[in-house]
Amino acid sequence: MKMMQTEIKKGMNEEEIDLFVKEALTELNLKEKVHLMSGNGFIKYIFIDRGLFKRAIPSGGVDRLGIPTFRFTDGPRGVIIPGSTCFPVSMARAATWDINLEEQVGNVIGKEVRAHGGNLFGGVCINILRHPAGGRAQESYGEDPFLLGEFGAALVRGVQQNNVMATIKHFAVNDQENARFKINVELDERTLREVYLPHFKRCVEEGCATVMSAYNKVRGEYCGHNSYLLRRILKDEWGFKGFVHSDWFRGLRDTLKGINGGLDVEMPRAKYYGKKLLKLVKSEQVPIDLIDDAARRIIRTTLKFTTKNDPIEYVKSMIGCKEHVSVARNVAEKSMVLLKNEDLILPLDIKKLKKLAVIGRLADLNNTGDHGSSNVRQDNIITPLRGIKDLMDSQIEIVYQDGVDLHTTINCVKDANAVVIVVGCSYKDEGEYIKLINITMGGDRDNLGLRNQDIQLINSVSEVNENVIVILIGGSAIMMEEWKNNVKGIIMAWYSGMEGGKALADILFGNINPSGKLPFTIPKDPVHLPYFDKNADEIEYGYYHGYTLFEKENIEPAFPFGFGLSYTSFLYENLQVNSNDNEIISSVEVKNTGIHKGDEIVQLYIGFENSEIDRPIKLLKGFSRVSLEPNETKKVTLKVKKSNLAWYNPQSKKWEIENIMYSVYIGGSSEVKDLLKDNLEF
Ligand code: BGC
Repeated sequence: MKMMQTEIKKGMNEEEIDLFVKEALTELNLKEKVHLMSGNGFIKYIFIDRGLFKRAIPSGGVDRLGIPTFRFTDGPRGVIIPGSTCFPVSMARAATWDINLEEQVGNVIGKEVRAHGGNLFGGVCINILRHPAGGRAQESYGEDPFLLGEFGAALVRGVQQNNVMATIKHFAVNDQENARFKINVELDERTLREVYLPHFKRCVEEGCATVMSAYNKVRGEYCGHNSYLLRRILKDEWGFKGFVHSDWFRGLRDTLKGINGGLDVEMPRAKYYGKKLLKLVKSEQVPIDLIDDAARRIIRTTLKFTTKNDPIEYVKSMIGCKEHVSVARNVAEKSMVLLKNEDLILPLDIKKLKKLAVIGRLADLNNTGDHGSSNVRQDNIITPLRGIKDLMDSQIEIVYQDGVDLHTTINCVKDANAVVIVVGCSYKDEGEYIKLINITMGGDRDNLGLRNQDIQLINSVSEVNENVIVILIGGSAIMMEEWKNNVKGIIMAWYSGMEGGKALADILFGNINPSGKLPFTIPKDPVHLPYFDKNADEIEYGYYHGYTLFEKENIEPAFPFGFGLSYTSFLYENLQVNSNDNEIISSVEVKNTGIHKGDEIVQLYIGFENSEIDRPIKLLKGFSRVSLEPNETKKVTLKVKKSNLAWYNPQSKKWEIENIMYSVYIGGSSEVKDLLKDNLEF
């Protein structure tokens, strides 16, 4: 064995790593390089160690040169390995609009990945919510590319603070589930660049280590073979220096197409790479340069993370520890969205409350989200019923019915002072689509409203009790027109993680003032949504969806993007808009005009007044979360880079900034009546 002149050691800088990699590429034989390019621990882990989901799965690595393995585990609602902290799903986290908190979530996840022995987190899911039926909506951060980019970047930052490689997925245009292995998405260049890719670019700029290619096809080519996406855009245009790995099992289907397309690693085992790849290189059908480029990316990225000095020591006792669980609770508290509060039914006044009825098949169910690859194995879940009982049992009478028998339920709620009905979705209605011999889990939603049985329950209970509050569980928009007007309160509570029940109880009884805002639009009627076919072989995605579509077509939604009520009220005044060469700088004064302390999410949208091209009415370009005591006023300043206002000109193939009148809107939701407006020309 030839000795390497450069050695792997802690604290290596990038130059030293590059030197090592250069030398390693001359030292490694072809078989070793190809070995780096596929997952290799998986089969052993399932069949010998019976360890699927129980620990991180090692891949890559060459012992002879001390090149470490990368050890994969999944997310995003925490680390999927048993005992980890189970957070609210990403969609709930987006509803906090709190990127510092998301970074904290990432930091906890990073610590737990390390404590479990992993060093690669495959759970930064940033696919856009194009349509609420999309099965994996809960794993992502909503319908807006800017919000998605900021949240993805925050999660990447937090995870990577612990020298864990973060994977962003699924690259790209992966927005529906049942047909994920076969669907071909057609879209024009502007739509691709402006709607489906900006959030990926944002995370690459943040320094994410790895990218997972998607299963679906884009413009006729599987994403794992797609050189336009992987080589041209990701690696060449954006300068991504990390490695690309496939989604599992069916993310790669052809050796030559994969390697030519720019896929560096096949996961989780060598089916098309490994021996087949070796053969193609030996027969000179694949140039060695392509192998060297992939090997360089893999060794370089792995070393960059594994040689960095750790900020702390990672020990098993960190996993699911008190401090981490309290972050999950904080997120749950900030994520719930108060959608309706007629007659100020909430917060419940315990002085007037003797008997509270808690109803519904989801009220006492461990229901933290899908049962696919994002399932965090955590047994200690506080359900809504348990949260309410733990907080209130000694003070009021609490009765519970699952609502299946309507007659018993009606009798039970008749004399209650208020009724909390918990309904919505579970892993049976939505999530990663998994079809094994006899079971089907998850998939795209068939029904965008509640089940008939739940609607009947709400409407029947409302007939005998006028103080009904509906708690919705789910990962995206739930339609409410059949029952919305019959109830006084509605809270979107999401899949709210292991502490969700506590957070919900605190909100119901006013210990916490709700502050979440919707990261998507809730329609009144599904006909207002873009075309969706869960079994499609081919589909065309247009430029507009979500609030940009509703605004362009002047359709009133049931609840607009960015909407959420509070127990207090906020007044916006004194909008000021200035600009310099690079930025628009806007400020506004926000005052808490109610009697409760509260958090407001200040949103900034930019409109394109006299554009000559087809542009959205307005786009989210900034936001900030602010805490205010009653009567307190704070000045909030939001900056928008002018480069963020560019559009992609498919003719010139360039991002261009128009010289037009831009409107700056600031306020508490995307709805015009909630926004102050000023104009700016440049
Ligand atoms: C999912 C990925 C996941 C992978 C490994 C796939 O089925 O699409 O999101 O990371 O499994 O768990």
